[in-house]
Amino acid sequence: MGHDASPKLAPSILSADFARLGDAVAAIERAGADWVHVDVMDGHFVPNLTFGPKMVDDLRKATSLPLDVHLMIERPEDWVARYAEAGAAYLTIHVEATRDVPGTLRAIRTAGARPGITLNPETPVESVLPHLDEVDLALVMSVHPGFGGQAFIESSLAKVAAVRAALDARRLRADLEVDGGIKLDNAARVVAAGATVIVAGSAIFEDAEGPVRATEKFRMAVRR
Ligand code: DX5
Ligand code: ZN
Repeated sequence: MGHDASPKLAPSILSADFARLGDAVAAIERAGADWVHVDVMDGHFVPNLTFGPKMVDDLRKATSLPLDVHLMIERPEDWVARYAEAGAAYLTIHVEATRDVPGTLRAIRTAGARPGITLNPETPVESVLPHLDEVDLALVMSVHPGFGGQAFIESSLAKVAAVRAALDARRLRADLEVDGGIKLDNAARVVAAGATVIVAGSAIFEDAEGPVRATEKFRMAVRR
């Protein structure tokens, strides 16, 4: 199964210097990151605001790494075609954000990106299980979305294990990503629960040794 390979690392640029995002993606690419995790927040679905599709256009030109775009926005169905056109490789929507999850996942695929589904910490894991056959990525949030630097919610490990069990039972090859509060000292436990992709923001961009060295340390921490 896919999760026997070395887990992928997707640094989140939410904790990088927004005035120097080109430098941030260059650093993590040089350090061997697998994807760039891009947190889009609309100030409504979450109580914070980041950036829109033009940032994805511009990041697309600044790195050859796949852009893993996490849409924390209401009515994602109105926006997915634009983010796909901007060059998102993965487009992940929240199950809480739209009344038409299957239609929005289909629209993402039709627009040429890989669909992902995610859920907030207080949302039961059962809400995403019906959609697993239609996605290339299942994302378990291990903090309340909106801000970097929060503490990992331990109960999310049970959700990771539940999604892993559902994927394996149906022989699905979708990636299983975990996002929020992941540090060098808990990354291995997240992978052991079944994750194939690890997101880390503050642990990469606020590491005293810098993002390149931090990315290398993560690689070592999750190596199988
Ligand atoms: C939170 C975002 C995360 C965030 C993770 O809303 O979805 O991607 O950047 O940051 P850390 O790793 O600092 O918890
Ligand atoms: Zn995220």
